[in-house]
Amino acid sequence: MLYLLGVIGTIVVWFALLGVISRPVDRNRTPVVDPVSAWDIARVGADRFRAGLTSTGAPLIHRFPGDHRLVVGLTRSGKSCTVHAIITAFSTSVDAAFVGIDPKRTELGLWRPRFTQVAVDLADIDQAIVRAVRLMKVRQQFLELQGLTKWTAELGPWVFIIIDEYAELVGISTDGIDRAGEGTDIDKGLKRSKALASMRITDIGSLARLGAGLGIKLIISTQYPTAEVLDTQIRNQLDTRFMHRVSGDEQVKVSMGAGRAQQVGANSIPASMPGGLWVVGSEDYNDPVLARSTYVDAADIPTLATRTASAAWTWEQLLSLQTVADRKGLS
Ligand SMILES: Nc1ncnc2c1ncn2[C@@H]1O[C@H](COP(=O)(O)OP(=O)(O)OP(=O)(O)O)[C@@H](O)[C@H]1O
Ligand SMILES: [Mg+2]
Repeated sequence: MLYLLGVIGTIVVWFALLGVISRPVDRNRTPVVDPVSAWDIARVGADRFRAGLTSTGAPLIHRFPGDHRLVVGLTRSGKSCTVHAIITAFSTSVDAAFVGIDPKRTELGLWRPRFTQVAVDLADIDQAIVRAVRLMKVRQQFLELQGLTKWTAELGPWVFIIIDEYAELVGISTDGIDRAGEGTDIDKGLKRSKALASMRITDIGSLARLGAGLGIKLIISTQYPTAEVLDTQIRNQLDTRFMHRVSGDEQVKVSMGAGRAQQVGANSIPASMPGGLWVVGSEDYNDPVLARSTYVDAADIPTLATRTASAAWTWEQLLSLQTVADRKGLS
């Protein structure tokens, strides 16, 4: 009997030990953030919106208009959900205009009634980028004439340029370029697309460098946070970073900055937390904070977009420097 009890006791202790040993090492270091119910997105101050939760239970805050933003992560890691949560928050404000650049034709089109433009074909994308650069120049001249130095909401809306899958824009997918014979149609086509891609990078670079002071903010998302895709000059301007699950340390360095790679491990987002992210930014999150965006179901976006469509801006209104006050006077 005693012998039997002894054997059972040993087995119990053995299983208990196994449980401890097989527990993921960083389980305690990376607490799971509870999901946030849809619609739980709200303004919480003059320039702040709540659109998610952090691991301390505090709301995930987005400044309005905030910095240029970078959103990275593997496929299905939650990038679009984070972008939709930011748009949902800001879409209620007439001080916000949106331009969507969506070469992979994902879900930005669902926002169409609220957006100034949603461009999916490369020709439309180039037109949207050219218009954004023109708007920047028009605003720059206006500020100079007025003797002002910075854009404010009284002068016109903040324009958010949202790029979903940046790598598609910068010609990274134009592989095979060396395989086409010199002078063939394919070769000419590829050369042209490479030239267009480099013009796009130049334009996005100047929007990144000068846009912020002129009321134009970029929200760039990519699955491929590598130095090749995101050149340093553009990356350095994207001050707020959202990093969803990524696959390696190199991606953490590019996404969060080299100095932060020690604080945030590549596999530090538990599988039990879809949509988990690390946020770091110059305004609210000096150190990386684990968080999760409010889940915005794509099926709800058309309703959200229609409900806020009256706050939408056309390119004509933006380029003619119409102000919110003007628009209210006219309507
Ligand atoms: N904040 C969240 N809360 C709960 N679930 C989420 C959240 N974000 C994402 N998910 C889940 O993960 C799935 C993928 O999310 P999402 O489409 O945002 O990924 P993605 O990174 O944009 O993927 P892709 O690179 O393929 O575009 C969602 O359909 C949802 O099931
Ligand atoms: Mg996506």
